[in-house]
Formats: sequence, C-alpha cells, structure tokens
Amino acid sequence: MAHLARRTWVPGPVEAHVQRLAEAAHHPSDQVADRIEALILRNAEIHDRECFNLNPATNVMNPKAEAMLARGLGSRPSLGYPGDKYEMGLEAIEAIEVIAAELAAEIFGASHAEIRVGSGALANLYGFMALTKPGDAIIAPSAAIGGHVTHHADGCAGLYGLTTHAAPVNADGYTVDLAALHALARQVRPKLITIGGSLNLFPHPVSEIRAIADGVGAYLLFDAAHQCGMIAGGIFPNPLSQGAHLVTMSTYKSLGGPAGGMIVTNDAAIAERLDAIAFPGMTANFDAAKSAALAVTLLDWRDHGRAYAAAMVDLARALSQELVGLGLPVFAADKGATRSHQFALEAAAFGGGQTAAKTLYRAGFLACGIGLPLPDVAGDMNGLRIGTPELVRRGVTPADAPALAALDKAGWIAPSALIVAEMGVRDPVPEGKTLSVEDERRYGKARIVFLRNAQAGDREAI
Ligand SMILES: Cc1ncc(COP(=O)(O)O)c(C=O)c1O
Repeated sequence: MAHLARRTWVPGPVEAHVQRLAEAAHHPSDQVADRIEALILRNAEIHDRECFNLNPATNVMNPKAEAMLARGLGSRPSLGYPGDKYEMGLEAIEAIEVIAAELAAEIFGASHAEIRVGSGALANLYGFMALTKPGDAIIAPSAAIGGHVTHHADGCAGLYGLTTHAAPVNADGYTVDLAALHALARQVRPKLITIGGSLNLFPHPVSEIRAIADGVGAYLLFDAAHQCGMIAGGIFPNPLSQGAHLVTMSTYKSLGGPAGGMIVTNDAAIAERLDAIAFPGMTANFDAAKSAALAVTLLDWRDHGRAYAAAMVDLARALSQELVGLGLPVFAADKGATRSHQFALEAAAFGGGQTAAKTLYRAGFLACGIGLPLPDVAGDMNGLRIGTPELVRRGVTPADAPALAALDKAGWIAPSALIVAEMGVRDPVPEGKTLSVEDERRYGKARIVFLRNAQAGDREAI
C-alpha cells in the first residue's frame, strides 16, 4: 500500500492509477533510482522518437539552454535585488538574472520584465494581484475561444477572490465580440479585462479592447502563454504597443525556453507592484538555472526569432490546408484556418477533442482537446488543437505537410488496429502503446523525415 493516502475526491480510476504508480517507490533506493532513469529514457523515446508532437503547449529547447539547467545554479538561493542580495556569493548569478530580464525587455519591447515567475498560471496570478483586489469583477475570454481556467472561478482568479464574467464571443474571429464586450463592461464595471487564450488563430483586437477598458477604468492584461512566440517573432503585433497594460506568458511553449512564466509591461507603477509581488511577496529564492536557460533562449529569439515564428505559421497554414483538402473539418477553414502557429479541428465527428487525441496518440501523434465556439460534445471538448512549434524545430517544413496530413488523417479516423494492419505489422499494437521506430520507418515519408532529422541531432537553436 502506498504511503500516499487514497484521495476520495479524485476520480476512482485516476486515483487507482496513482496508487499503482506509487508502488514503484517501494523498492531499494538504487532500484528506484534506476526506475527513474528508465522512465526518463522512456519519455525521450515517446517525445523524441515515437511521436510527432502537434501540441503547441510544449517544445524542445536549444540544447545549450537545456544543459544550463544542470550546471549547479538551481540550488543557489538568490533573494533580493541584484547588488543587494541577502546571501553572499551571488555576483555571478545576479548578473545572469539581470541579463535575462534585459533580453526579455528587448525582445518584447518592454521597459520592465519580471522573470522570477514560476509558471504562466502564476504570471496571471501576479497580474491579478497587481491590478485588482479580491471582490473585484473582471472580464475574461470563455473556454469557447480558448480562455484559460486561471482567469476563471476555478483558477487563480477565483482563488484570489475575483468574480469573472465571460467575455461575449465573436465565433467568426475566434475572439471577443467588441460591441457586446462594451455593453458587458458598462454593466459589470470590471477592474480588469483579459484577452489571449490557449488557442489564438488570428490577432485579437487589442486596441479596441483597450478603448473599452479605458471607458470603464479597467486595466487590460494580454495572456500570451501561447502567443508569446508570435509576438517575439514579430508575426503578431506586440500587445504592449497596442495598449495592453501588461503581458503574461509561459516560457516553454512557443517561446521554447525552460519551464516558467514571465511578465512584461511598459508601466512603471505596475512594474513596481509586480516587483513587490515577486519579492518579498510570492517568490523568495527562485531558480537561477532557469534564468540562464531563459537568457540563452531569448538570444535565439534575438537572432532567429522572426524566421522561427514565420516557419511555425507557414507550417500551420500548410498543414491545415492539407487537412482541409483531405476533407477533415478544420475550424475556420473559410478564413484560412489560422494566421498563427496553431489551428484546430472540429472534433464532434471523432467523439470529442480528448477522444480524438487519444486515438491520434496510438498512431504516434501528440495533441489535445480545445474549446471551440460550436455545440458542446458531451463529456469531452469540441475541438482538437494542433500546433507547430516543435515540428519546426525538428526540421519539418511545409513540403512535408502533405505526407504529415495524410498520416494525421489515417491516425485520426482509423482505429489503431487498422493502422497497424495497413502497415503490414503482424502483431496489433496494444492499447496505449505507441508504434516502434521500425513501425514508423515502414509507415511513411514524413515520419522518416522526422526521424532522420531527430537522429541527425537536429535540435539546434531554432
Ligand atoms: C492561455 C493560457 N494561460 C495560462 C496558462 C498557464 O500556463 P502554465 O502552464 O505555464 O502555468 C496556459 C497553459 O497552460 C494557457 O494556455
């Protein structure tokens, strides 16, 4: 029996799974350490060899940046202002911290950058704390246009005591309906309006939202957890120059950096509040290794950002058009599906977004569900999100899109047994197991391109 108590509030099958996994710790320590090593290798197989990663919420890092995470920085406490740290011996670490913040300010055209943030979710909480008080009303995008839970009752907005009103939806543009937003803002008098979500297909009308916010004395927060790569690469307009008071983001999605969060702003008063929220508020010491890795990531953006961002968009557009051509229900196909690095498929016909993602996984594709402004799918999400940040870094180009789309279609609509039969593999792949490298080799050009690139160590910066 696990030391971890069985949690009554967690769904039964999930908790049973957790209890089974916990048993792996019930062995002599060297065996447990070996098991962890084996799991790390297994993870690498899944992500580096067996699957195409179509999930835009993840990426591969520049190996140089990734290596910096294991260079002995992370366990060194670093608390307080550079030049006035509490602990001694931090002159090298504080220089890294300042370089990372300076690069963030440069890349995002900001006068202030807060890099000590642990995640995109915490970046939003910092933003809420800087701009609102518990009890205030805010307006945020609903899940139907990719709005994230952190802006809503179950997320940090609700936990902090904010009341969230869902912004009216403009289904056509996968964004907010400006006229209805204006009316809602006058009615609920929010202290903050947020825009930006987990799927962003077309630029959001940021200056128009800012005008609405100004009309009711509200701040505007742009959540660029996903869009930060498009912004850093200059493909989407910078929300700060369009009027957002601050921009929050994750650093490991389209940005391709270490796991973490970041906030940029051009408003000194807001920056002062964020600074106090970061320290002594919510972070005392923080991970200096992450700062180093982030700095190197941002150097990649400085030198290659426009090309990388453009390649992500080109591939997303090529792949979405191929899927349209194959008769798959790409959302907003009549508008070109996307101007971003992400697009979505309408998932009702496939049992829902998560169901479709599980089918795709058996065929060697990683993706997940998303909300679309379409009728609900009971017990599931109604969309499937696809993104290109990792494909591009692995060397996939628009020229590979037809083969990739054909694989994707086969993987999506055929049960795994059928895919396996088509491939001439004798033993069916058991549920939950992904295809082996040998299977992949037999399966198609796109996968071979993918493997060749991966094997050539083609994980250079951008
Ligand atoms: C729009 C949006 N905001 C915030 C977050 C939270 O970011 P993180 O996972 O880095 O905490 C996410 C995704 O996870 C997101 O999609």
